[in-house]
Amino acid sequence: MGAPVRAWTLAEWALLPLRLFLGATFAFAGLQKLANPNFFNAQSPSSIQAQLIASVRLSPIHSILSHFVQFAKPLGILISLSELAIGIGALLGLWTRAAALGGALLSLGLFLTVSFHASPFYTGADIVFLFAWMPLIVAGGGSRLSLDAVIAKRAARELGAPSPEVVTVPFAKVQEICGHFNHGKCGARRGQPCDQSVCPVLIGDRPPLATRVAIDTIDRRTLVLGTATAATVGTSALILGAVAAEAGRLIGGAPTPKKSTTQLGSTGTTVPSTGTTSPPSNSPVPKGTTKGIILGPAKDVPKGQAATFTIPNSGDPGIVVQPTAGQFLAYDAVCPHAGCTVSYYAPNNVFVCPCHGSQFQVVNGDVMNGPAPTGLKKLNVVEGADGNLYLQ
Ligand code: FES
Repeated sequence: MGAPVRAWTLAEWALLPLRLFLGATFAFAGLQKLANPNFFNAQSPSSIQAQLIASVRLSPIHSILSHFVQFAKPLGILISLSELAIGIGALLGLWTRAAALGGALLSLGLFLTVSFHASPFYTGADIVFLFAWMPLIVAGGGSRLSLDAVIAKRAARELGAPSPEVVTVPFAKVQEICGHFNHGKCGARRGQPCDQSVCPVLIGDRPPLATRVAIDTIDRRTLVLGTATAATVGTSALILGAVAAEAGRLIGGAPTPKKSTTQLGSTGTTVPSTGTTSPPSNSPVPKGTTKGIILGPAKDVPKGQAATFTIPNSGDPGIVVQPTAGQFLAYDAVCPHAGCTVSYYAPNNVFVCPCHGSQFQVVNGDVMNGPAPTGLKKLNVVEGADGNLYLQ
């Protein structure tokens, strides 16, 4: 019959771009993770392990999250495959409500872990995805470009029932064909004025038992056909995921070098002031005159590598790096975007945030790539003549 007039204003048409966008985005995100060997490589700053560890500190569900760190790899595989399944389900309009519910739950989980502290809050994508799935949970996938609709029609056809497709009929047309309509009065409402919202022709009485049984039979048949289709599509998605993972390993699988960050054993010892002026940063200090808090031996931060420590005053994680011989640069490692902990990526000589990929310059902590709105907070760390690093 073709599309009705102004079809684009109807919910099922209007929601189509959103469904296709969400489907394509989630399917792409799942494939991208599966095809990226570094996502599962604990040594990589962009791995699922790094993301979990970076998120644990500030996540409102940190007590739950901390238990998952040891299962980071299987969790990463589960998230990737779920994204792929949700994306394909939404794209095809197959089990759309289930896919939308899965998408919303996944977005909620990511919001509570990696973007809860995004500031301002609307810069975190997960909260937007969470609410973008809502209309599809409520309204389903509609009957356009949707396997659910095709399956429902086929089930009805096989059982000899009318097509279950929902169509809009202008009320003027209802008046024209309605046997109850009598000059603005409704025979089915005992002569009361017609009321579009409770029109007995549109809503009908409670269907007879035979009709209700037929509807149940169609629904059962729809479920069986939908399950078979979902199983076929799910198997294809698994094969697609495996192919993507293998292709990722073969094409872009240059292994990330071992992580060059160690934990400085902070003694927390405050060296009392001797009354001398602190020397400028990055220069050796005569023994006994260094002020500050001992972080640990400078030799634990070899050239081209970094070490982490806890900043005593704030409890924040800190990071110190020795980019060139004898030069120690330290920063508060909390990413200004959503509070994840950045790490040092030696091959590119940058700090990388595992949560949303912000990158920062080592030389001054400035943002190179967002979404972090500002750079890292610089700390003053010097090497004392006793071979220790001091936080001043
Ligand atoms: S927390 Fe989002 S980029 Fe760092």
